[in-house]
Amino acid sequence: LKETGVYGLFWDNPHKLHIDLGYADDQCWRMEAEDGPLDYYYLAGDSMAAVVSAYTRLTGRAPLPPLWTLGYHQSRWSYASAQEVRDIACCLREYDIPCDAIHLDIDYMENYKDFTINGERFPDFPAFVKEMRERGIRLIPIIDAGVKVEKGYSVYEEGVKNNYFCKGEDGEPFVVGVWPGDSVFPDFLNSKAREWFGSNYKTLLDCGIEGFWNDMNEPSVFYSKKNLAKTIEHISGKAGKNLSLQEFWSITGAVATLANNPEDYASFYHDADGKQIRHSEVHNLFGYNMVRSASEYFKEYDDKKRFLIYSRSSHIGMHRYGGIWTGDNASRWEHLLMNLKMLPSLNMCGFLYAGADIGGFGQDTTEDLMLRWLALGIFVPLLRNHCTFGARRQEFYLFENKKAIKNLLDLRYSLIPYLYSEYVKSALRGELLYTPLGFLYPNDERAKEIEDQLFVGGSIMIAPVYRQNEKGRLVYLPESMKMVKIKSVTDYREEVLPRGDHYIEIGFDETVFFIAPGKALPLANPVSHVEELDDKNFLWLKNSEGEVDYELYTDDGVTADIRFENIKTIKVK
Ligand code: NOJ
Repeated sequence: LKETGVYGLFWDNPHKLHIDLGYADDQCWRMEAEDGPLDYYYLAGDSMAAVVSAYTRLTGRAPLPPLWTLGYHQSRWSYASAQEVRDIACCLREYDIPCDAIHLDIDYMENYKDFTINGERFPDFPAFVKEMRERGIRLIPIIDAGVKVEKGYSVYEEGVKNNYFCKGEDGEPFVVGVWPGDSVFPDFLNSKAREWFGSNYKTLLDCGIEGFWNDMNEPSVFYSKKNLAKTIEHISGKAGKNLSLQEFWSITGAVATLANNPEDYASFYHDADGKQIRHSEVHNLFGYNMVRSASEYFKEYDDKKRFLIYSRSSHIGMHRYGGIWTGDNASRWEHLLMNLKMLPSLNMCGFLYAGADIGGFGQDTTEDLMLRWLALGIFVPLLRNHCTFGARRQEFYLFENKKAIKNLLDLRYSLIPYLYSEYVKSALRGELLYTPLGFLYPNDERAKEIEDQLFVGGSIMIAPVYRQNEKGRLVYLPESMKMVKIKSVTDYREEVLPRGDHYIEIGFDETVFFIAPGKALPLANPVSHVEELDDKNFLWLKNSEGEVDYELYTDDGVTADIRFENIKTIKVK
């Protein structure tokens, strides 16, 4: 430690943690857990990258997602009928907007019941999945954590019969309110329940579905039945009275604390294969094990094939089972910057398949925010445009500057062979896909302070614009690099810039990246969906007078195993 000053600490404890790295006292780092073991791992290494690699060697490495998941994903809460999804797909294709996936939010289900399909709004679902596949689009349905309490609903009945749901103090399934109304939580810490819940994915897999998102799996609770009854009683007791201010606040307080109430989390239990555990002690493991249940079942269903699963909630180690999205952000410029900053943090925890709702989930987006967010999103594995109901629509074909959107999305597809190769190498070697400058230039004090520029893979650095009304931005180059200002594979400009600060103008219809010395990258011809990609003929860009080696990874994009021999060293002239 004295020699390099570099080390990592991994504290393996799922309880609620409080971490204060020099905020209250800049001389002191404080880490506290409410309970649980003081099991921590000291990770040595002679560089930050080596520490990360040691950490993923310990916790496991991320699997490879299907190649199509690197395409563009269109989403909105909700496309509520097959016809609506069809219309969206038609518009995307009509406006020549490349796309590989459309997400189905909760309204595809029958009354928000997991593993059901609303037959009126989505008649003949397997035929519809096939129809979309023929257009090069996969459907990605959501699966929520809460299972609706309903007599006759097979998932609920089977779960009750086999004791697969979390129980309250009275030994009965603990009832909470989520989208379906009264709901119960599968006990994902119980191996039999986990296996059983996972096996339910068969219903959708048999319809041809190849990817899913898991939501509300913190788990999110709008109210517990117990607490709601108490609150209603409390409020009705005040009916017809003149309220004091304290009484008024007691009402608003009781209502405001109904959702995600810590007392509720402390009053239901898991049966972790014979060991009763209070939920609050393992709260952080719930979403993790929900994803695990799906991922383990996919292997049983077809171990030759890759499926997509990603989640809102997670915990250390979940990256072995699936990816993550950063949840309900909003259409705010600071959330774009936050997205950029979270990428290396998630990577350091092992997550490679990650992304944010570009354009913002909550609130109304604007065209300039959308374009700048997309200009970051094209470098991120999960490129999904998703937003909440009630917010202004943000499907790309609805914006004025279609040319800019088309340029950026085409560029994303051109970048896929590079992103895929870099992703696979990171997964195999336990390396970062997004590297902060300080990791690569540890002796450069300026580089260490920079949080708004990142290396994406080993060859390029990005520096997105994340402030409104800015026509460009200051970029710090820790060494001389080649700037590529690019609108498309046939319209770009290159310039070698010296080390130091540069103000770079960046229009809405282009992007800028910087190639490190001695590095290269392939760019493919743009296509409308990933299956059309030509992974042999590339435009090669490089920063060197001479020949440069590039390790390119190609495969069929769907078969489960990663083969080292699919990494080919290309001599770029
Ligand atoms: C919350 C999720 O974060 C969001 O993405 C989704 O649209 C809603 N739940 C509705 O399912």
